[in-house]
Amino acid sequence: EWTADNVISDQVDIIRAQVGDARVICGLSGGVDSSVAAALVQKAVGDQLTCVFVDHGLLRAGEAEQVEKDFVDATGVQLKVVDARERFLAALAGVSDPETKRKIIGREFIRVFEDAAREVVEDAGAHGEEVKFLVQGTLYPDVVESGGGEGAANIKSHHNVGGLPDDLQFSLVEPLRTLFKDEVRAVGLELGVPEVIVWRQPFPGPGLGIRIVGEVTAERLEILRAADAIAREELTRAGLDREIWQCPVVLLADVRSVGVQGDGRTYGHPIVLRPVSSEDAMTADWTRLPYDVLSVISTRITNEVKDVNRVVLDVTSKPPGTIEWE
Ligand code: XMP
Repeated sequence: EWTADNVISDQVDIIRAQVGDARVICGLSGGVDSSVAAALVQKAVGDQLTCVFVDHGLLRAGEAEQVEKDFVDATGVQLKVVDARERFLAALAGVSDPETKRKIIGREFIRVFEDAAREVVEDAGAHGEEVKFLVQGTLYPDVVESGGGEGAANIKSHHNVGGLPDDLQFSLVEPLRTLFKDEVRAVGLELGVPEVIVWRQPFPGPGLGIRIVGEVTAERLEILRAADAIAREELTRAGLDREIWQCPVVLLADVRSVGVQGDGRTYGHPIVLRPVSSEDAMTADWTRLPYDVLSVISTRITNEVKDVNRVVLDVTSKPPGTIEWE
């Protein structure tokens, strides 16, 4: 019989048998898969596990705190936080091309993560010892997809930050390999993973870096983060979170339009709302959000976020549009 409890007790045995008394590391992204995988491994081997959270500065408001505080409080996991915000900004300076951004973010992420893995060993005073195991939040559909040999053109290099390439020197621990998303959520809730994490909508590994159309700068990130926080707050307030697959909020940083605010002319940037409904992100339809909710979001963003004087709604399905703008 399938119950979250049974899955947990089976996986705890399997994980213990696999890793013995070796040291284990897990990259946390703030998403549901890596969080639930980490919580399971923590339950199985406790402090043999260290989680590493790389703050690349491309997260939404409150997300770093969610991992650093709420997740740790709920699970008791050992966490190493790496503040790599400056490093990622420097690496992204001058870059506007979406795929180049993804490559840079992926590359920097791996470097930072590998350094952190070495430090985890040193912090533990276990010189010479190596971290042998890496926890990955791979789900059943990921397994099927990557074995499926589909010849589809590479539309976007879905560099899953928080997921890492398997050519790192680790053996993989993948306790969610047989589970579907709803099952992972059930297991997560049973393990006490906070609801905001368990029910989080998909968020791309490269984060806000691919939601600024144009170069990524600290100032632009601040603008986008503020606009995104308002949109999320109002969608949550309206009770729409579970109806929407995800709602990217995008800053058209290289576009300006004329507006009028207070008693003056403005020349600011547009923010795009991209709410979509989907089953699996392969195809999607634009979500018909209630006009009053759209109206509140638009008013608040233009009033509260500096340099934004226009909010536009993306009414394109996928295909032909992708969910993200980059
Ligand atoms: P698109 O834009 O291709 O997105 O329709 C489909 C789903 O994938 C997410 N996405 C990404 N996830 N790294 C990720 O981990 C990426 O580079 C990336 N690009 C898109 C997107 O948010 C949507 O859920």
